[in-house]
Amino acid sequence: MLRSGHHTPHMCKRGRLTPRIRRSRCRTPCMRRRDHPTPHVLKGKHTHRRHTEGAIHTHTEGAIHTPLLPEELQKGKPFELAVDVGCGTGRYTRPLAVHFEKVIGIDLSESQINEARRSTSEENVLYHTSSAEEMPLKDASVDLVFAGLAAHWFILDKFMQEAARVLKPGGCLALHAFHLKFEIQYQDVSETLTAIITETMNVLFKYGDKSNDVMMNQYRELFEAVPFADKQRTTDIPVMYPLSLADLLGFIQSLYMYQVFLKQDRDGATEFLQRVEKRFRDTLGESSNQVTLEFHMTCFCVLACKS
Ligand SMILES: C[S@@+](CC[C@H](N)C(=O)[O-])C[C@H]1O[C@@H](n2cnc3c(N)ncnc32)[C@H](O)[C@@H]1O
Repeated sequence: MLRSGHHTPHMCKRGRLTPRIRRSRCRTPCMRRRDHPTPHVLKGKHTHRRHTEGAIHTHTEGAIHTPLLPEELQKGKPFELAVDVGCGTGRYTRPLAVHFEKVIGIDLSESQINEARRSTSEENVLYHTSSAEEMPLKDASVDLVFAGLAAHWFILDKFMQEAARVLKPGGCLALHAFHLKFEIQYQDVSETLTAIITETMNVLFKYGDKSNDVMMNQYRELFEAVPFADKQRTTDIPVMYPLSLADLLGFIQSLYMYQVFLKQDRDGATEFLQRVEKRFRDTLGESSNQVTLEFHMTCFCVLACKS
């Protein structure tokens, strides 16, 4: 379970937001058919140090079992099948296990799938190395197609066609990610810390590709490409993570843009990160190893239901 001081910044539980969501809002995107799960997708657990984009390591491993769905929906029979597409190491796949009879994680990367298998003990969770555009699944067999921080990599029209093929009538599609603009708050140096992370991102954007644009416009193209009439996009959902400086530096390193930088110029990327770290340390002073920073980001999601 949660260690003290850390909270799961999930979206909305029984009509309330957790205290770590900044503004007061409840936009539970309920789908029309109430016998299908309401996809509460924005449960921000980030629990590994691999090069998964946005993997914020906050020492809250156990909290991934926090229920994703409102209690009234958890009491019924589990839904049959959920698929986590672009599952990486399975951090969003495992929490689905309690809500579905079977969960399948799919990822192009064999090494990610191997790691997901190693870190999963739930017997009803399986993994396959395969693509979002060609899922090894029967027509109309899936209750939930989910993708966390991954859909901006997919070939959009092919993925949407495939999601429409595998979903049952009434099945749901849930895609979420975060905006690449951050704020850091800590005592009276918030402005400086935010300027450092903004400048850092501005350098890293040079190593980005078109998936950045899809994230920066908060999945607008993805939303438009969803082939179902029952769909909605929720943007600017504020989320806050309490982070140590080490967590923050780990987060920067986990961004794929930093990984591209590293591949192209290992020494340049390493020195860049060292300079960023020095700026943070100079700003935070002697206690830089002890501080807990408030790392603010906004998330967005696209939710839809096949009729
Ligand atoms: C940023 S990671 C997110 C992983 C995981 N969902 C998470 O949040 O921890 C994106 C993942 O999508 C996978 N991926 C990218 N394109 C894919 C595709 N076309 N089909 C399946 N997986 C894909 C990558 O291999 C990577 O593991």
